[in-house]
Amino acid sequence: MMPNPQFQSQRTAFAGLLATLIPFFFPDLFSPLGRSFPSLFSEWNAPKPMHLTLLEAALHHQIPFRHQLDLWSPLPSQGWEPCPPLQSSTPVPKTQYYVQVFLDGGLNQQRMGICDAVAVAKILNATLVIPHLEVNPVWQDSSSFDDIFDVDHFIQVLKDDISIVRELPDKFSWSTREYYATGIRQTRIKTAPVQASVEWYLENVLPVLQSYGIAAISPFSHRLAFNNLPSNLQRLRCKVNFESLVFVPHIQKLGETLVNRLRYPLSQNLTAETMHLKDGQEAIKNMIGGKFVVLHLRFDKDMAAHSACEFGGGKAERVALAKYRQVIWQGRVMNSQYIDEELRNQGRCPLTPEEIGLLLAALGFSNTTRLYLASHKVYGGEARILTLRKLFPLMVDKKSLTSAEEREKVEWKASLSSALDYYVSMQSDIFISASPGNMHNALVGHRAFYNMKTIRPSMGLLGKLFLNKTIGWSEFEEAVRSGHRNRQGTIRLRKETQSIYTYPAPDCMCRSS
Ligand SMILES: *[C@@H]1O[C@H](CO)[C@@H](O)[C@H](O)[C@H]1NC(C)=O
Ligand SMILES: *[C@@H]1O[C@H](CO)[C@@H](O)[C@H](O)[C@H]1NC(C)=O
Ligand SMILES: *[C@@H]1O[C@H](CO)[C@@H](O)[C@H](O)[C@H]1NC(C)=O
Ligand SMILES: *[C@@H]1O[C@H](CO)[C@@H](O)[C@H](O)[C@H]1NC(C)=O
Repeated sequence: MMPNPQFQSQRTAFAGLLATLIPFFFPDLFSPLGRSFPSLFSEWNAPKPMHLTLLEAALHHQIPFRHQLDLWSPLPSQGWEPCPPLQSSTPVPKTQYYVQVFLDGGLNQQRMGICDAVAVAKILNATLVIPHLEVNPVWQDSSSFDDIFDVDHFIQVLKDDISIVRELPDKFSWSTREYYATGIRQTRIKTAPVQASVEWYLENVLPVLQSYGIAAISPFSHRLAFNNLPSNLQRLRCKVNFESLVFVPHIQKLGETLVNRLRYPLSQNLTAETMHLKDGQEAIKNMIGGKFVVLHLRFDKDMAAHSACEFGGGKAERVALAKYRQVIWQGRVMNSQYIDEELRNQGRCPLTPEEIGLLLAALGFSNTTRLYLASHKVYGGEARILTLRKLFPLMVDKKSLTSAEEREKVEWKASLSSALDYYVSMQSDIFISASPGNMHNALVGHRAFYNMKTIRPSMGLLGKLFLNKTIGWSEFEEAVRSGHRNRQGTIRLRKETQSIYTYPAPDCMCRSS
């Protein structure tokens, strides 16, 4: 699912305002579980479970042995694998031209921008300057490229493809972020259309390079087309995304620590006894022991308010969300024309943590599942998460798994925390994202590249099921299971205008022999 472009642009327009509200709305970026914060509008009158009958059943039902085996078994090969390494045919030209990009958005939007920037530099035979990451008004993280990604690795992996420099040579040292922020500049390319073609860059940016030797492109998000691009350029974009971008060593190390603690929890080694297994079901233990699932959950106030749905917090919450909508979007939210039931029927309501819990239980995750929650913060705090935790008592996150000392370098840094969640998500046996958006797309694509199991909830189906107040557990479970049979990582070939970063086959992947 694509993020709603209207939502995106409205968000940018009001980003300035949001930034001033940040300290109130995002008090603890690091952990959705860490604390429940003081009430601003007293709307956190503990949201109540909305699906009590299903919940009661989910807490007591036995998950059939076969379901668990199905769920945890890795994906079979689907006949696709990462293509063999690109052979560079032409040597990297020694170039006098420099391309700079300034990247907006959160970590995962910037990641796509980096991949596109490499391709654009290649198109223009220019040297790329390590991209500048703008401070995101929502997340307020000033981390630079080299705070997040391993620059040496990046340059090394791409050295036969393009030339990359950390900094501009002295004669261009005037070309800075500040320089472009304070006036109209001949070397700034401000008008790159969304999904611009190769020809557009040759016609509009090359002349600037020829005149000045340098071009600074900003804005640059989503500014290179996915269709009608030569396959060597597509392959280069894939190489940037899947091979050249790795996180700095301290993120990788902390990520590895988290993964180890998830796989081998000190006090929680599973035994046949703690897993309520009957004789002969040792297979499950061997199958599931040491495995974990990552749940990516975005349920912040921004999203809750924008959806205009109801989430069980009663009148206080309804009023608070409407007020927020008014402040941020001045009533220009399409969804608010519909009633909750219509929105749910169309699958337009974000799943609540409770609903995600019911989904997971129906899919066959038992209460001994090790579940890692990848999330910034949840609107409503611990109270909203309580139901999910009841269903999955072994739920953890980056905060609960580390000491304050260990996470010192990433705490309060949205991009670094997000990088850490990305790392753990890539190592998990199963990944589920309950929230469409850039992180969802990036991980769905990256895991497809390695044929890893990734469950994509069917919002349409779940919206309808949750509307049915008389549905029993077994019907619910059956409908969920059959509705998700083909949503667990089946390769979906990219359609013309779709992103190669979300759908890496066939551009980044080759038929396996
Ligand atoms: C898990 O569920 C079983 C029954 O389904 C129950 O007996 C057991 O107490 C539950 N364990 C935990 C830790 O909640
Ligand atoms: C870039 O270099 C290649 C190989 O040297 C050449 O074929 C191509 O025309 C050059 N493109 C531009 C825009 O200079
Ligand atoms: C759990 O298993 C790991 C790996 O097999 C082992 O190192 C650890 O000592 C075990 N912990 C407990 C409490 O049994
Ligand atoms: C609700 O679920 C029950 C049981 O599956 C089914 O018989 C009924 O038709 C459903 N109602 C609606 C409105 O879909």
